[in-house]
Amino acid sequence: MNAKNAGAKRFRGGLTGCGFFSRNHLHAWQDIDTAEIVALCDADSERLQATGQAFGIERLYTDAAAMLSAEKLDFVDIATTAPSHRLLVEMAAHAGVATICQKPFALTLADARAMVAACDQAGVPLMVHENFRWQPAIQAVGRALQDGLIGAPFWGRVSFRSAFDVFSGQPYLARNERFIVEDLGIHVLDIARFLFGDVERLSATTSRVNPAIAGEDVATILLTHESGVTSVVDCSYASRRVQELFPQTLIEVDGADGTLRLSADYQLEIHNRDGTHRQTVTPPPLAWASAPWEAIQGSVLNIQRHWIECLRNGCEPATSGRDNLKTLTLVEATYLSAREGRTVTLKSLEEEATVDTSGSLSAVSR
Ligand SMILES: NC(=O)c1ccc[n+]([C@@H]2O[C@H](COP(=O)([O-])OP(=O)(O)OC[C@H]3O[C@@H](n4cnc5c(N)ncnc54)[C@H](O)[C@@H]3O)[C@@H](O)[C@H]2O)c1
Repeated sequence: MNAKNAGAKRFRGGLTGCGFFSRNHLHAWQDIDTAEIVALCDADSERLQATGQAFGIERLYTDAAAMLSAEKLDFVDIATTAPSHRLLVEMAAHAGVATICQKPFALTLADARAMVAACDQAGVPLMVHENFRWQPAIQAVGRALQDGLIGAPFWGRVSFRSAFDVFSGQPYLARNERFIVEDLGIHVLDIARFLFGDVERLSATTSRVNPAIAGEDVATILLTHESGVTSVVDCSYASRRVQELFPQTLIEVDGADGTLRLSADYQLEIHNRDGTHRQTVTPPPLAWASAPWEAIQGSVLNIQRHWIECLRNGCEPATSGRDNLKTLTLVEATYLSAREGRTVTLKSLEEEATVDTSGSLSAVSR
């Protein structure tokens, strides 16, 4: 603990889900001196033991309810895949414990709404681990727009095109009927919301290029934001580029007074009446970072720091459960638009979800 934080409360967390991505959470927690993961849970005891050993955590559970009743926790960090999220979040809410939940928050809007309601009723904070907007490069773009460096934006493009083999680390992604929009597009849509605000309507196309997977691996989405900005969100895991850029998100924004471009290798260029300003916004050098994941790993550290600040100050996380409902609604709207070949108004989808609590919306929109 450094001198600045000496005497500050140390928040005690329990992490559930010791799989592929959890190592990033756990490394990041070790870098935050006002937080400590004191217990781990995974239904798979081998993974649990191996993770406990790797991170020096001795209190291990194969059952999340047992961890919650035996440990005195300030928060739980749920790093499992989506099918288990509702059960685990509601369990934590009923135990009165603040909760972080990995993305995708839920497989249906009905489940997501139930989780937000459960945490509201219990009076506990809920944050979705929606980390992409926390990458230093994306934050730099957000600041430039906020500072008015290119005037009021009227057009944007947020683009993620790659042929990186995500299936070797996350084999379940090849089997999911929904793939790129639910897994990756969700991040890119969230960045579009972060930069240009909430969305009034969208239209989308999706397709599958890789015959070895079950879901779609290409999506192109045209969004009309409430701010008046038109943006294009495009993502692909079927794009064999000269330079493989995974996991970089490229951004173009045109504003009334200039243009902004975030290009390959984190080159940020801002052009306005004062001239052209260029800077490199590379991820932070973390001791535990591993190529090509550095930007993602930096964003994990940033979002987890933000969570601890929110717990300390009582403020709502930027990517709270409530906020993430809007990103998840964009995912649903994308699938609905692509399937029915029509423009989808977000308000109609939100109203439909409010009226119909049976969960049939998700059945309709799949
Ligand atoms: N934000 C990002 O950049 C990013 C990147 C990769 C993965 N993810 C997300 O992280 C989540 C986890 O992905 P992963 O690839 O690590 O998955 P994984 O399958 O490798 O690991 C999940 C672990 O959770 C355990 N688990 C599942 N249900 C459980 C339950 N009810 N109780 C206890 N343990 C349970 C499993 O045994 C497994 O070990 C996913 O939702 C994925 O979308 C996010």
